[in-house]
Amino acid sequence: MNSYINEVDFFKNNNIEEIADTYGTPVYVYNEDIIRDRMRKVSGAITKYPYTANYSVKANTNIHILKLAVSEGINCDAMSVGEIKMLLAAGMPKERIFFVPNNVSEQELQYAIDEDILTSLDSLSQLEMYGKLNKGGRCAVRINPGVGAGHHEKVITAGKKTKFGIAEEDIDKIADIVEKYDLKLVGINQHIGSLFMDPQPYLDAVTNLLRIARRFKNLEFVDFGGGYGIPYHKLDDEKDFPMEDFKKKLEPILDEFVADYGYAPLFKSEPGRFCVAEGSVILGRVHALKSNSGVKYVGTDVGMNVLIRPSMYDSHHDIEVVRDGKTVAREDMETVTVTGNICETGDILAKDRQLPKIQQGDLICVLDTGAYGYSMCYPYNSRPRPAEVMICSDGSIELIRRKETIEDLMKLQINLSCK
Ligand code: LLP
Repeated sequence: MNSYINEVDFFKNNNIEEIADTYGTPVYVYNEDIIRDRMRKVSGAITKYPYTANYSVKANTNIHILKLAVSEGINCDAMSVGEIKMLLAAGMPKERIFFVPNNVSEQELQYAIDEDILTSLDSLSQLEMYGKLNKGGRCAVRINPGVGAGHHEKVITAGKKTKFGIAEEDIDKIADIVEKYDLKLVGINQHIGSLFMDPQPYLDAVTNLLRIARRFKNLEFVDFGGGYGIPYHKLDDEKDFPMEDFKKKLEPILDEFVADYGYAPLFKSEPGRFCVAEGSVILGRVHALKSNSGVKYVGTDVGMNVLIRPSMYDSHHDIEVVRDGKTVAREDMETVTVTGNICETGDILAKDRQLPKIQQGDLICVLDTGAYGYSMCYPYNSRPRPAEVMICSDGSIELIRRKETIEDLMKLQINLSCK
């Protein structure tokens, strides 16, 4: 593919240069149609049995994006009280929120209990804490199905090398705690890790979880977790996650379980990245060009503070070059290293990347930044967080978060008078 933004008409009728001028760079630009499309696609992953996809909001909690989830009828899962509050502010009904926290305090659990939000406990000790707080209450538990997958060891959340979930050998102890506090265990969930393009490890984990599910009576739901990948190398024609093939392979596994269990509980998944990643790009400006020891550096304002994934996980994000409002064709290429403006040698957006020859003043358009982009950005080097804008379905542009200011950063430091 020569250009993703042209292929999908990402900016609709808007001039890219004008967006950069109006909102400043760097700026996150979202596309409503793409996000809605992905939410619909993932909601159709199981059609034979009762099923809901829960958008995992840690990927992106902008309230306007959460509102898209509300209007698409997709449920959500939250990892923290903050994420629950964002969802409530977006108008998400409580019964469509599933709280899936890790190592939380009594106060945080109490908040969910008071708000009547169904919670999954991730360890025996948290289950015990929950039982004490909410005797006779409804809850779920997170199981570690023993199989993990993901794009980097830091994001594999099942198997032997992770803090998450209750291990299979501890499952009998769940029943003891449930009985002790008269809890009603209504569901089990898992999440094996983030970003796989081959569905097989996920299917293996589903098989394992359903084997484990047979040990629990009267389950209302079984939740398989998220992790479906998106093609980050789309300019090199990487294919989409094979959703249809996945669906075909998943169905017989569910059939066998339903026949054995006697009925079909509600099946759930927790996709974060899949819903939002491809629905955003970052526009950044090239401010400097230089060569150091034979390496050509392109210096931009898209630092690791704006998008941490490349420096944290060596993640790849495709980059397009934009000049005078138009994409520069991918010909007459050269190898460059694209960096940000942060005081760290690791502040690298793309290392040894083949790009069309770049000029100072060009814009770069960093693709697939909707998931774990803004939600992980931070004001390092006292650089305020960027604005977020949405290209709406009708082609209009809306500012959905203003750029942070230095004053925003300073006002949290209440003790300004100290010497
Ligand atoms: N459910 C649970 C319990 C999770 O912990 C996660 C992600 C998800 C669902 C959604 O996973 P997804 O469908 O988005 O893969 N910052 C990393 C990803 C960390 C994912 C953490 N948990 C990255 O930028 O690649």
